[in-house]
Amino acid sequence: MRIDVITIFPEYLEPLGVSLLGKAQERGLLQVHVHDLREWTTDAHRTVDDTPYGGGPGMVMKPEPWGRALDTVAPPDAVPQPRLIVPTPSGRLFTQEVAIELAKEPWLVFACGRYEGIDRRVIEEAGTRMRVDELSIGDYVLAGGEVAVLVIVEAVGRLLPGVLGNADSVADDSFAPGPMANLLEGPVYTKPANWRGREVPPILLSGHHAQIARWRRDQALRRTAERRPDLIERLDPALLDEHDRAL
Ligand code: ADE
Repeated sequence: MRIDVITIFPEYLEPLGVSLLGKAQERGLLQVHVHDLREWTTDAHRTVDDTPYGGGPGMVMKPEPWGRALDTVAPPDAVPQPRLIVPTPSGRLFTQEVAIELAKEPWLVFACGRYEGIDRRVIEEAGTRMRVDELSIGDYVLAGGEVAVLVIVEAVGRLLPGVLGNADSVADDSFAPGPMANLLEGPVYTKPANWRGREVPPILLSGHHAQIARWRRDQALRRTAERRPDLIERLDPALLDEHDRAL
């Protein structure tokens, strides 16, 4: 997968070169290119923002640098076109489902807004030649899109074939499809079996794989009911067995 990020703070994206995603890049599974939006300004002050039409607080990102940046990073005659992701608190919610969808794409371009956002016409014009998704990572307001890009790229990058070893399979993820779909993961333990007088739940030492799976599901259901009752509401009743219902 190729990823381009356009931002006025390229250094904010440096963590993409570290750890799992850094390894993925070294191994050629992922190519990340970060671009400074100010390269596409033409004035001495390298201006990227201006006051909003209609008045109001804050500043709006000017369309001209964005138009030139997008035309350079993703030329209009490039085939195929990338998918453009614009992080914004007013976007559709970014979920594991969206991450799975984005992981299938060969090329993503991220446009990081700052201030009150990017002039609407940039998003409209880009939408005439590429798929545009405005995405929010949650109901809170960040200072700009950069941290949201880190979140989205990490969630998508770890789903790419070959990025995770088998040992960290994505199949058990809290929001992965399958028997544990939409359940939070329960508690986990490692050696020693007794630490400061606290025992690991004996079932985990029993070697009874079916009983362990049943125990893990119970733990996941209890934790989800307690912390995220909204997820329990949305569970498909057909996926609950009698034991689940008795909890
Ligand atoms: N930019 C500012 N806040 C954001 C959020 N919650 N999600 C995505 N981008 C943002």
